[in-house]
Amino acid sequence: MGAGYKNGTKICKLNIMKIRKVELSEADTLLQITTKTFLYAFAHLNKAEDIKIYCDSFLTINRITTEINNTDSDFYFVVDEDDIIAYLKLNYAGAQTEFKDSEAVEIERIYVLAEHQGKQIGQQMLDFAVSMAQSKQLKYIWLGVWENNSNAIRFYRRNGFEVFDSHYFMLGNDKQTDLLMKRLISI
Ligand SMILES: CC(C)(COP(=O)(O)OP(=O)(O)OC[C@H]1O[C@@H](n2cnc3c(N)ncnc32)[C@H](O)[C@@H]1OP(=O)(O)O)[C@@H](O)C(=O)NCCC(=O)NCCS
Repeated sequence: MGAGYKNGTKICKLNIMKIRKVELSEADTLLQITTKTFLYAFAHLNKAEDIKIYCDSFLTINRITTEINNTDSDFYFVVDEDDIIAYLKLNYAGAQTEFKDSEAVEIERIYVLAEHQGKQIGQQMLDFAVSMAQSKQLKYIWLGVWENNSNAIRFYRRNGFEVFDSHYFMLGNDKQTDLLMKRLISI
């Protein structure tokens, strides 16, 4: 995988794909892919009313804009030719949803459009997150994953993540358990 910097943004060439930072002007596009991938992954496994409460609270243009503007968070798109096919959100320092450890990075979101899943795109985003953590000399990378998301848990385990804790997550009115998984970073 070749990597370089352009206008301060890390560009990784992944065959014909690239990973690039999301710009503030792309908030609408980010909201669209965030909503689409979230609904595809979780709508059929949860009550419609819980999904609606979550979407109305968290998947709004105001919320997404605030998240992009947070200087301790970075969003990335994976672009194939001109098509945006996946996205990644990394949180550092105070932007992390828990712990706020300055020596850690959180993968808060990693989502691939359904028709592109199983093609190693998630793998490349994960490798990218690890390379970002290495370049910032962080000690570990962590994330929360719904205990029922067995595909994603298998994907993380295969990549060296181990469960170290759990917490509750409110999806609407449904109290769910997220497993917290971490992987140490070697420089
Ligand atoms: C989890 C996810 C990011 C992995 O990315 P990906 O590009 O599909 O994964 P890769 O091709 O790099 O690796 C394949 C692994 O992903 C998982 N996977 C999830 N959905 C898959 C699908 N439709 N087809 C194939 N593999 C899938 C499998 O665990 C697979 O591992 P396996 O080979 O042991 O079965 C992606 O499938 C996704 O966006 N899923 C829905 C959203 C989600 O659950 N995000 C994580 C929230 S914590």
